[in-house]
Amino acid sequence: MTRNELVAEGLSVTFPGGMQALRNVDIRVGAGEIVGLVGESGSGKSTLGRVIVGLQNSYSGALRFADEALTPRRTRPQRCAIQMVFQDPYASLDPRMTVWQLIHELMVVHRIGTGREDRRQRCEDLMRRVHLPGALLDSRPTSMSGGQRQRVAIARALAVNPRFLVADEPTAALDVSVQAGIINLFADLRQEMGLSQLFISHNLAVVRSLCDRVAVIYRGEIVEMAPTGAIFDAPQHDYTRQLLAAAPDLP
Ligand SMILES: Nc1ncnc2c1ncn2[C@@H]1O[C@H](COP(=O)(O)OP(=O)(O)OP(=O)(O)O)[C@@H](O)[C@H]1O
Ligand SMILES: [Mg+2]
Repeated sequence: MTRNELVAEGLSVTFPGGMQALRNVDIRVGAGEIVGLVGESGSGKSTLGRVIVGLQNSYSGALRFADEALTPRRTRPQRCAIQMVFQDPYASLDPRMTVWQLIHELMVVHRIGTGREDRRQRCEDLMRRVHLPGALLDSRPTSMSGGQRQRVAIARALAVNPRFLVADEPTAALDVSVQAGIINLFADLRQEMGLSQLFISHNLAVVRSLCDRVAVIYRGEIVEMAPTGAIFDAPQHDYTRQLLAAAPDLP
């Protein structure tokens, strides 16, 4: 069993108005592990991702990362350590800025790199990491394809040297033809950098191919969490069986 990287215990989130989006959620992600999170729309997947990444700070329960407690007031290293990749790469990138400007700005804010030259070098390394030509550093994301834009968003998340990624439906807005390339990139990042991940997806075939373990969430509760093979071959919970039965193209 791998060392725990992220541990959440008894997480609950109730939104103003009384909507209870998470109920007593326990989840563990090991170092270098990819855990899938599946469940129907509105089940609380994004809410859990946002709590983990520090975007949803109103919650009860405990979060630990790399053997440190995470509180709603995170340190800068803690904020850098856990990054999020969103569904829509269009929405999270300022259209007026070049890729270099977008990433450079972030490095300056988080005090990454020793100067302009060093940061340029780091940006070129990041472009290689996400399999984009270095020349695109001086282009604007608006001139790029959806797949390229998502790669830029991933490069940006990597710029602050995270140890953990929350990917929230990172291919759902993309053309089917480029989805596999992005999925492979998440696998490469784990392989090459040991990056731990919580991978949120509606696509069970993708979860099956990418993830080590899978958590199934239903109405804010984790109803089942098991190794990927067990989830798909011997689901224990009725809701997991329903999800699998409703998936159109599972082999
Ligand atoms: N800021 C908010 N205020 C009030 N309710 C919210 C807020 N954000 C989410 N909710 C509600 O919390 C529940 C869980 O939402 P969440 O976005 O986590 O679901 P999800 O599993 O990510 O769904 P989807 O698959 O559609 O992305 C939903 O009922 C949603 O309407
Ligand atoms: Mg969501």
